[in-house]
Amino acid sequence: MTITDLAQVKDKMKALSQAIRHHQFCYYILDNPEISDFEFDVLFNELKNLELKYPQLIATDSPTQNVGYTPSSDFKQVPHLRPMLSLDNATSMADIANYIQKILKNIDDPNLSHNLSYLTELKIDGLSLSLRYENGFLTQGLTRGNGVYGEDITMNVKTIKNIPKILNRPEKANLPNNIEVRGEVYMPISAFNKLNEELSQKGEKLFANPRNASAGSLRQKDPKLTLKRNLAFFAYFLFDNDATNEFSYNQDKQLEMLQQLGFDCEPNFKLCHNLNEIENFCNHWQSQRFKLNYQTDGLVIKLNQASLWNYLGSTSHSPRWAIAFKFPPEQKSTTLESVTFEVGRTGVITPVANLKPVVLAGSTVKRATLHNYDQIKRLDIRVGDTVVIEKAGDVIPAIVGVDLSKRLNDSTPIEYPIRCPSCQSPVVQNDSDVAYYCTNFNFCPSQKLRRLEHFVGREAMNIEGLGSTILSKLVSQNLVSSVADLYKLNQEDLASLERMGVKSAQNIMASLEKSKHNDLAHLIFALGIRHVGLNTAKILASHYNNMADLSKASQEDLESIEGIGPIMAKAIKEYFGLADNLNIINELEKLGVNLNNLKQNSLIDNTLDNKTFVLTGQLKSFTRNQAAELITAHGGVFKDSITNKIDYLIAGDKPGSKLLKAQKLGIIVLNEQEFKELLDYKD
Ligand code: IVH
Repeated sequence: MTITDLAQVKDKMKALSQAIRHHQFCYYILDNPEISDFEFDVLFNELKNLELKYPQLIATDSPTQNVGYTPSSDFKQVPHLRPMLSLDNATSMADIANYIQKILKNIDDPNLSHNLSYLTELKIDGLSLSLRYENGFLTQGLTRGNGVYGEDITMNVKTIKNIPKILNRPEKANLPNNIEVRGEVYMPISAFNKLNEELSQKGEKLFANPRNASAGSLRQKDPKLTLKRNLAFFAYFLFDNDATNEFSYNQDKQLEMLQQLGFDCEPNFKLCHNLNEIENFCNHWQSQRFKLNYQTDGLVIKLNQASLWNYLGSTSHSPRWAIAFKFPPEQKSTTLESVTFEVGRTGVITPVANLKPVVLAGSTVKRATLHNYDQIKRLDIRVGDTVVIEKAGDVIPAIVGVDLSKRLNDSTPIEYPIRCPSCQSPVVQNDSDVAYYCTNFNFCPSQKLRRLEHFVGREAMNIEGLGSTILSKLVSQNLVSSVADLYKLNQEDLASLERMGVKSAQNIMASLEKSKHNDLAHLIFALGIRHVGLNTAKILASHYNNMADLSKASQEDLESIEGIGPIMAKAIKEYFGLADNLNIINELEKLGVNLNNLKQNSLIDNTLDNKTFVLTGQLKSFTRNQAAELITAHGGVFKDSITNKIDYLIAGDKPGSKLLKAQKLGIIVLNEQEFKELLDYKD
C-alpha cells in the first residue's frame, strides 16, 4: 500500500468518525436520532473493520475507543486560528465620517476608492462564537474568550438548532475542506421572556437581559441544559482555513454564501454607498429595533471590499475596515407613583421608584432604581412627577430627569426613612459616602435574606433551587440565619417546607454539596464584601492561595495589587476585621467548603518544551500579556530579562536594548511572524 493510499484510508476513517460522533450526539444529547440504529451500526462497523486492518491509523479520540457520550467537566482553552478582535465604537455620524475618511486616505488609489461600499449590519447583542467545520462537519465551537484563546463549548454549540451540524455544499460553491464561521449567539426575546417566567415561578433569580441569559446558557456543563434554552445564531463571517488569501469574498458575498451553506444571517443588512445612506439606515433601525425578536444595540459598518481588509490591517484591538455604532438608549416619560425603600445585603437602603407601567426598549417597566438619596435631592424628584427613564445599557431602567413643566402643585418631596423598613432599627448615614444604612447588621431579616440570595447566586456559589421564596421560608422558620447554616441543612428540613417535593429537596442538597468544591474566587465574591465584585474576587483569588492568607493581608498588601484601590482594600480589611465574619468562614471550612485556590491548568500542548522566551518591542497581534499566556500554555517559560539562559527573543516593532544584548549573546531572535509559525498561529 502506498503512502497516498494510506492517506486516503486515514481520510475515510476521519470522515466516518465525524459522522459517528455526530449521530451519537443526536442520539444521546438531542434525543433526536437522524438515522436508524441499524444504519448507525453499519457506520460503526465500517470504522471498526478499517481500524482492525490498519491499527497504526487508530486515532486516540476514535469513537470506537470511547463508549457513547460523556460530557466534559470543564471547558478547555483553545487558541483561535486567528485572533477574535473587537470593534472600535463610533458614537456619532461624525465618527463614522471620520472612519470612512481614514479608509479613503489609506487606500489612496482613485480607481479603488471611487467604488467602495459599506455593508451595514445590525449589531446583535449576544456573544461572538467561532465555528470550525472540517469536511463539512461541525467539529469545534469556541467562545471569544480573551480574543486569543477561546473556551471549547462544542457540545453546547451543537444543541443550537439553527447552527448546521453538517453543511449544505452547493456544487458551485467549491468550498475548501476547512472553514471557520463567526457570528453571534443570542437568545430570542420570546425565549428570554419564557425562561424568566419559569425562573420567577420557581422563585429563582431572573436574568437581567437576553445577553446574560445567553451567556449563562452557553456555558452550561451539561449540553442538555443548553438545549432547553432555545438559543439561536446569526453568522457574519466565513473564513477559508485552507487558503492563504482568506478574505477573498466581499462581505455581501460572504453573507450570501453563508446562507447557501445553511446558516441564518440577520436579514436586515444593507449595502450603503455613502454616509447619507448609512445615516438613513441608522435612523430607521434606531426606532424600529424594538419590533425584532432579538436585541440589537447598534450597527456594524464593514467595508464591503474584503480584498482590502488585509491591506488596511488591524490594531491589536480592532480592524480598520469595520466600526460599530451604538444606539443611544431609548428614553420614555412616565409618572412616579410611589417610592419604596429596600435594604440590601450590606445594610444600604436604596430607594426604588414605582412607576406607571410603560414600554421601554421592548419590555414593560414598572420599577426603576433611584440609586440613593443624593440623586433624589439633586434631581428634586417628587412623588407624582412626570419622570424620564432610560435603560442604562438597555438593562436596568433608571430615572434620569424630571419634567418640571408637568409638576403638580401638591407634590411633596421624598423623605428618607429614619428607621429601617425591615427591622425598625435606626438608620445612619455614613460620612464617607452618600448611602444610608440599617445598623442592625446581624439581625435585620432583610439584610440576612439579601446576603443569602447573593451567596447562592449564579456568579457566586451557584446553588440551584434556592430561590428567594425558599430562602425567606428558611429564614422565617429559623432554619437558616447565616450563609454557613445553608450547609447544615438536611433533606428533611428542606422537604418539610411548604410546597417542596422530595425530588427538589434532593436536588438542592446535591447542589449545596457540589458548591463546596467551587474555586476560591466564587467564594470570595459570594461573601458579599462591600465593593468586591466577581472580577475583584478573581484578582484576589489569583494573589492569595487561600482565604486565611487573604484574611491576614494588610491594607498595603492589598493596595499593591493591580486593580485593587484604597476603597476596596479598606472594605476588605473591615470585612475580615469583624469576628462574626471570621466565625462564618471558620464554620464554612468545618462544613467542608473549599477555601483554597484551585489552580487551573491551562496547558494546551508542549510544543515549546520548556524553552525560555523574552519579548521586546510591540507585537501587532498580541499584547505582552497575551503573548506570555500563549507561551506558557504551549509549555514555554516567559521571562522579563535577557540572560545567557534565554533561548529566544521575540522582537516586535520598536525593539529596545534587549535586542542588542540578545544578539551579543547569540540568542535566537524571532520576528512576530516566526513566533506565530512556531505556534502554528494564523492571522
Ligand atoms: S463583526 C473584528 N458583525 O459586536 C470583529 N460583530 O463590538 C468583527 N457583533 O465582538 C465583528 N453583531 O460579538 C460583527 N454583525 C456583526 C455583529 C458583531 C454583533 C458583536 C461581536 C463583536 C462585538 C464588537
